[in-house]
Amino acid sequence: MPERRRQRYGDMEYDWENRVNTTSGTVGWRTRLLGLFHSPYQPTEPALFREMMASLALEFDQFTFVDLGSGKGRTLLMASEYPFRRIVGVELIEELHRTAEENIRGYQSATQQCKRIEAVCMDAREFEFPTEPLVLYLFNPLPERALSEVLRRLEKTLAQAPRAAWVVYHNPLLETALGASGYLEKAGGTAQYSVYRTTGQPRATTG
Ligand SMILES: C[S@@+](CC[C@H](N)C(=O)[O-])C[C@H]1O[C@@H](n2cnc3c(N)ncnc32)[C@H](O)[C@@H]1O
Repeated sequence: MPERRRQRYGDMEYDWENRVNTTSGTVGWRTRLLGLFHSPYQPTEPALFREMMASLALEFDQFTFVDLGSGKGRTLLMASEYPFRRIVGVELIEELHRTAEENIRGYQSATQQCKRIEAVCMDAREFEFPTEPLVLYLFNPLPERALSEVLRRLEKTLAQAPRAAWVVYHNPLLETALGASGYLEKAGGTAQYSVYRTTGQPRATTG
């Protein structure tokens, strides 16, 4: 009875299936407390992740997947099932970051297509985007002001090194910040997520 199991154990199904530790259920109290000041850890649901990836019209092997606020690294593992060029996760909280590293080391999947996975522990606001085509994944890691800072940083690097970029925004509460970018246009989505991609030519930014 998978539905009853899900109701009882929440997000643990992925961990049982893959023998990893990405659930929010085992996060220590200090980290939970820190989460109240930043953004509480919650992993992305696998079926939704697959739906989001299916909505991208791109050659995966050209792109670097970057998750800002990667937590215990579930998205990094799920992204590794696609032939991304490489995968980078950026997490502020050390306990989560260390668990992500363990998960990356221990992940065993016969269908894994990308093994270049790196987890870094730092503030996403200071992360320098690699000058490669990008899929930027955001699941509410940042409040509005910090998100805008990150997007300005993204625009700057896109201006300096023009290249394709996609932004997958899960639970897009602050979507207006993306809509305000002259470098991005909406390419799809549902109520649960929005997808943006670089425009051919930068549009005029309003405001
Ligand atoms: C909702 S969770 C998403 C986890 C993961 N991306 C996923 O989808 O499975 C948001 C994560 O962002 C992290 N976070 C919050 N502020 C951050 C910051 N300034 N820099 C990096 N990570 C941050 C939190 O610690 C948390 O792990």
